[in-house]
Amino acid sequence: MKIFVIHGPNLNLLGTREISIYGTFTLQEVNKALTELAEKEKVEITIFQSNYEGEIIDIIQKAEQEANAIVINPGAYTHYSIAIRDAIAGVGLPTVEVHLSNIYAREGFRHNSVIAPVAIGQISGFGIDSYLLGLRAVIEIAKRKGDSNERSEVE
Ligand code: DQA
Repeated sequence: MKIFVIHGPNLNLLGTREISIYGTFTLQEVNKALTELAEKEKVEITIFQSNYEGEIIDIIQKAEQEANAIVINPGAYTHYSIAIRDAIAGVGLPTVEVHLSNIYAREGFRHNSVIAPVAIGQISGFGIDSYLLGLRAVIEIAKRKGDSNERSEVE
């Protein structure tokens, strides 16, 4: 099983960016924790970070050929990128949306996610654990989907 993890804009600045909100851990540390969990769960993950909307869309489209599921933190694009939403809806892979901060406890413009309606679910507010919970969730969902596909092939 292969999972794409996508970090959106400004997440490369973790560790120095608004540390009272996002904490002092770096993106490398997030990626290390994700890689360790993936090894433990015996799944393959490929991790991307991009500050560009179009590049994120290209990665989502590539996932359709290469991955079973997606974990995405779309950063600020969460709140307005219909194009990223359409890409997720278009590829139809199980997708979990994650946020380090609790977007509902912040400014009003962060309370709406245009991604949430096309995701299986959203995990928001648990810091680095949002990613780990998101990865666990998507692994379970992809496993169940795989099992039912196998069953329908047999039937
Ligand atoms: C974020 C929340 C977004 O509102 C913000 O624009 C980010 C990070 C989070 O992980 O908490 O860049 O997605």
